[in-house]
Amino acid sequence: MNPLYTPFQIGEVALPNRLVMAPLTRGRASRDRVPNEMMVEYYTQRAGAGLIINEATIISEQAAGWVYAPGIYNAAQVQGWLKVTKSVHAAGGRIFLQLWHMGRASHPDFQPDGALPVAPSAIAIRGETHTYEGKKPYPVPRALEIGEIGGVVEDYARATRLAREAGFDGVEIHAANGYLIDQFLRDCSNHRTDQYGGAVENRARFLLEVTRAVTNTWSAGRVGVRLSPTGAFNDMEDAAPAEVFGYAAEQLNAFGLAYLHVSEPLPGHPLASNLPPVAPLLRQKFKGPFILNGGYDAALGGAAIASGAADLISFGVPFLANPDLVERFRTGAALNAPDFSTFYFGGAEGYTDYPTLEEASARR
Ligand SMILES: Cc1cc2nc3c(=O)[nH]c(=O)nc-3n(C[C@H](O)[C@H](O)[C@H](O)COP(=O)(O)O)c2cc1C
Repeated sequence: MNPLYTPFQIGEVALPNRLVMAPLTRGRASRDRVPNEMMVEYYTQRAGAGLIINEATIISEQAAGWVYAPGIYNAAQVQGWLKVTKSVHAAGGRIFLQLWHMGRASHPDFQPDGALPVAPSAIAIRGETHTYEGKKPYPVPRALEIGEIGGVVEDYARATRLAREAGFDGVEIHAANGYLIDQFLRDCSNHRTDQYGGAVENRARFLLEVTRAVTNTWSAGRVGVRLSPTGAFNDMEDAAPAEVFGYAAEQLNAFGLAYLHVSEPLPGHPLASNLPPVAPLLRQKFKGPFILNGGYDAALGGAAIASGAADLISFGVPFLANPDLVERFRTGAALNAPDFSTFYFGGAEGYTDYPTLEEASARR
């Protein structure tokens, strides 16, 4: 039997299977970043996942930088998310919130008073970002003053408290894909000369301070961390990813986290790297539950668990296009084709209208 369909315990949360829905930004919230009924329906449709990790969710106004991305910094957002979590729970599911600060991947258009976005160092992403007014070049961000960093860490803690109030089962610290925490970790975006830059111990400090603050706010058995050691998204690279991410994974052992989630897409995936994989090293260093992501299907996911490479597998695009992915994998049914044009914003089309097997057969 494929081990994907067997139960697994992550920290304080018992999962009926090992198929995790990977976090997917879908840009369907309101402009004031409040979750809506369409989002309730979308997540409820996917409650068959062992665990849903919701889309990256903005932890403060300064953290924002994506059109119609939801937030978790005010009461209206908590009320919106409560509807999502209640409905997912009523459908038998479990859902974590992904804590997101975009750092230099933001733009003044998203910032209070049109301020510059903040980052470890004043180094811009090469390329353009999507704003409410269309594409614009990424700005050179403002390097955080050392005295400001504690306040940003505090924003993660407040967002964690609000996620708990909003009925989530836990939170995932987004330290992947070139956003603020990843910008501290990697040497392309961190040229600091204080205790947050330079040596790997210094570049990992911000991640570890955030993790400490979040696990002091909620029990560590309800907190996960996501890393993308060889990912190039958002203009990212590092001279020696095994060193900084190996150190981070080892240090994360101190907290007793629910899991470590590593996105390192398999060869052939559009986001695959040519660098040697770092995930096997992180599996070795990290002593808790381990989620692998990137280009997996049922067979590859089952094989990765059977070989000991991972305990759980997360699926992004497959869950996006198949609300009943677990059932389809289990029965070997064909998958819906994803519609790339509706991935990142829009309405119900390409969001809540992907049919289940049952709906597809009723339409025939
Ligand atoms: C539309 C879309 C939105 C995404 N949004 C997020 C996100 O909010 N947070 C995150 O950590 N990764 C995000 N990712 C990356 C996915 O979680 C995942 O790592 C990627 O899709 C590779 O996994 P897959 O091959 O199973 O799709 C996104 C990917 C896609 C396609």
